[in-house]
Amino acid sequence: MSAPPAAVAPPVVSPPRAASAPLLEVEGLTKHFPIRRGLFARVSGWVRAVDGVSFSIRPGETLALVGESGSGKTTTGRCILRLLEPTSGSVRFDGTDLLGLAPREMRRMRRQIQVVFQDPYGSLNPRMRVGTIVREPLDIHRIGKNRAERDAMVARLLERVGLDPGMVRRYPHEFSGGQRQRIGVARALALRPRLIVADEPVSALDVSVQAQVINLLIDLQQELGIAYLFIAHDLALVERIADRVAVMYLGKLVELAPVEEIFKNPLHPYTKALLQAIPVPDPTRARERTVIRGEIPSPAAPPPGCRFHTRCPVVVETCRRVEPPLVEVAPGHWAACHLVPGPAGDAAPSSRRGAASG
Ligand SMILES: Nc1ncnc2c1ncn2[C@@H]1O[C@H](COP(=O)(O)OP(=O)(O)O)[C@@H](O)[C@H]1O
Ligand code: SF4
Ligand SMILES: [Mg+2]
Repeated sequence: MSAPPAAVAPPVVSPPRAASAPLLEVEGLTKHFPIRRGLFARVSGWVRAVDGVSFSIRPGETLALVGESGSGKTTTGRCILRLLEPTSGSVRFDGTDLLGLAPREMRRMRRQIQVVFQDPYGSLNPRMRVGTIVREPLDIHRIGKNRAERDAMVARLLERVGLDPGMVRRYPHEFSGGQRQRIGVARALALRPRLIVADEPVSALDVSVQAQVINLLIDLQQELGIAYLFIAHDLALVERIADRVAVMYLGKLVELAPVEEIFKNPLHPYTKALLQAIPVPDPTRARERTVIRGEIPSPAAPPPGCRFHTRCPVVVETCRRVEPPLVEVAPGHWAACHLVPGPAGDAAPSSRRGAASG
């Protein structure tokens, strides 16, 4: 298995190991939620939200996790943060098995792995002043000598994300959506994390504001060497920020490749459909749009064989019975489809299956 092309290499703050060592390694991550029915809440089935997902992220790299709503992206992010306990699989951060950590040790690890949520309003306590919101992680982890020192840190953080530090006494509702997301970013930055899981951080914002927040995240990455797991349902949003893109469908990764490969040479029919669904601003250049047929099926009863077969425009008989493995079809380019030729030109070789590591 060859290593994928290196990500943009910003200066990494005190690299712990060789630069090529992954910061985050997710292997076979699975999360099934029980479906409970009846008076005694007996388990009558399972929602297979995440079903054997593997990927890695290097220090300072951005991996975008993309797919329609309901594909399991948020659940993946929450399992990595241990806001949810995975059903199985492993999550290693800088070589440490996160799932084996006691709550106390996990709390310490949290300094290095932070989160930015989609809804900047819902994730900020409306009764807390902005200064307190951003200072809270510093208070909890007892960073700085005293309150005054922490307040000075808060002012610097607000300034760094483009907000007036004089606004510390205001409440979240006094800010615009974009400003609120900057507050969320400042709070995530407070503990100088090495990885930020950003779950649709700009999806709730106006298009013009989206670009500003993405620029801020890119600048911060270059300055601080932070790695991002950047979750989005829209491929267009990740083109500028991502180094590599992982495409998720119904709990599984269907394609993973460097961002330019995904846009120039998409291999999986689902990735192609997502790309074709991106609106083209110039109507004279409007490409033929294949809107993906139908709704995403329920992960409580995923289709047999290839999970995408009920909507795939090029489905063949095998697809309904045999699940295609995720294989490395070209260096660093992984796809799970019976019709995608492997490196030797044959369709989906089984010899190169494995975890899509970076
Ligand atoms: N706590 C839960 N209990 C049961 N089902 C859940 C829970 N959280 C998410 N799901 C289901 O898991 C699937 C994946 O959800 P999610 O990870 O939120 O997807 P995405 O972020 O890609 O939209 C969905 O079908 C969702 O309804
Ligand atoms: S395996 Fe078959 S159904 Fe699945 S994406 Fe490929 S062609 Fe379509
Ligand atoms: Mg989500």
